[in-house]
Amino acid sequence: MRTPHVVVVMGVAGTGKTTIGPLLAARLGVPYAEGDDFHPQANIDKMSAGTPLEDADRWPWLDAIGAWAHGRAGLGGVVSCSALKRSYRDRLRAEAPEVVFLHLAGDRALIEDRMSHRQGHFMPTALLESQFATLQPLQPDEAGVVVDVTGSPEEITERAADALDALADTSR
Ligand SMILES: Nc1ncnc2c1ncn2[C@@H]1O[C@H](COP(=O)(O)OP(=O)(O)OP(=O)(O)O)[C@@H](O)[C@H]1O
Ligand SMILES: [Mg+2]
Repeated sequence: MRTPHVVVVMGVAGTGKTTIGPLLAARLGVPYAEGDDFHPQANIDKMSAGTPLEDADRWPWLDAIGAWAHGRAGLGGVVSCSALKRSYRDRLRAEAPEVVFLHLAGDRALIEDRMSHRQGHFMPTALLESQFATLQPLQPDEAGVVVDVTGSPEEITERAADALDALADTSR
């Protein structure tokens, strides 16, 4: 039997991390954790006040996510975390070398359209713009897969599970 993956679901705001993450976890039979829940109180206060986080604020948050992920090593788990920059992923891997990234990728128009239908969540266009500007795609030396977010959540989950399966095949 192959070792279950510990998956970090990454991608820009609105790409479907919170939607797909739990579906994928259910399909893999492993626990799901919401990355946003790992912020220290100082970050929650900052975000509530509308102050953008700086990278220095993100390190303890990423370390907490990494600690959860590492605790699932060999057991499997799925956690969401936008992980837009290589340096954020390096930080996660420092805590949890076993993680594989699932990059949910889609074009701006599609994501913007989905965001516009989201209830109780206002996302200015400029914020999405800056998310795409910040995004550094997975590099060849990073374990992970890129999955397109067209179609229904069920279709995307299926696509993600297949891609992760194939990843396991190539690393054996
Ligand atoms: N495949 C899909 N088809 C249609 N709508 C979708 C799909 N995936 C996600 N959505 C919708 O798009 C919006 C954004 O999805 P979601 O909240 O999962 O994104 P996210 O990556 O977690 O965003 P954030 O970074 O802001 O937390 C939600 O309203 C969600 O219901
Ligand atoms: Mg989310």
